[in-house]
Amino acid sequence: METKRILTGDRPTGPLHLGHYVGSLKNRVRLQDEYDTYILIADLQALTDNFEHPERLGHNVMEVALDYLAVGLKPERAKIVVQSKVPELAELTFYFMNLVTVATLERNPTVKEEIRQRQFGRRVPVGFWAYPISQAADIAIFKADLVPVGEDQLPMIEQTREIVRRFNSLYGRVLVEPEALLGEVARLPGTDGSPKMSKSLNNCIYLSDPPEVLRKRVMGMFTDPTRIHATDPGHVEGNPVFTYHDVFNPNKAEVEELKERYRKGKVGDVEVKERLYQALERFLAPIRERRAAFAAKPNEVREILIEGTRKGRLVAQATMEEVRAAMKLNYFAT
Ligand code: TRP
Repeated sequence: METKRILTGDRPTGPLHLGHYVGSLKNRVRLQDEYDTYILIADLQALTDNFEHPERLGHNVMEVALDYLAVGLKPERAKIVVQSKVPELAELTFYFMNLVTVATLERNPTVKEEIRQRQFGRRVPVGFWAYPISQAADIAIFKADLVPVGEDQLPMIEQTREIVRRFNSLYGRVLVEPEALLGEVARLPGTDGSPKMSKSLNNCIYLSDPPEVLRKRVMGMFTDPTRIHATDPGHVEGNPVFTYHDVFNPNKAEVEELKERYRKGKVGDVEVKERLYQALERFLAPIRERRAAFAAKPNEVREILIEGTRKGRLVAQATMEEVRAAMKLNYFAT
């Protein structure tokens, strides 16, 4: 049986956080030996939101690459590909634009929410509004079977599946309908208790946060808003501090004991947070160390990106040969 393929990626808009980890990074690391894995640093997609400051992208591309290597993606297994260096993606996006209607694009709940957050209204740049088409090209050009993503990306995968079906029925079976793969925890709440960890909400814990920053963020977390004194019985469900304990504290006995005391009003928020800090620190320390080791060798990281991009581009070029042939656009060789 042929090895199945994974394609997923991130916009390089800054360092990655715990939400990225539980939603997608963890699955990528787990599956990298089993799947032919490509990870896209989606700088063109980031550009749709940062075109007034393209100079910021280069730095962020490196930051995201460091985060990938820090969590344990192995470059010989997981090929890291820089989107803008694969021009075939622009070509496929152009073909895909014919296969999507304005009505469908305007229904995409993720993009809708992002447009609302940025208060674009009708002045939304077309590039931003249409980025799901380019994302569909990202996935389709790699013929990905599996796309590990956070919950917010499900509409993008659905859109990709629709485009792929349409392409295949119009031009012949060339492309692969991908499946989404959610993390065990599909979505991690922010430190402020809002449903999603997101840079724009300033409620993130970053994989690269140093210990003192981590401590500050944990100590500032929202807990049970109905609880005023440490002696009041508290709520554990929906309390982000306990959600994080469940996800990141491997000492289940400790978590159970804390929950029980919390429910009875026998432990203060400070102690629960202190123990969470300890657990997160144990989780993040090795990640931080690996990150520092790679950060000290920027040339090596650049080589990893060049090599990953080269391999990714070969896949993209092969798919485009088939795409052009299926569309009868291969009038002559170029
Ligand atoms: N939209 C994703 C994000 O915001 C990034 C992304 C770009 C992506 N292309 C992709 C994710 C292809 C999965 C597959 O993080």
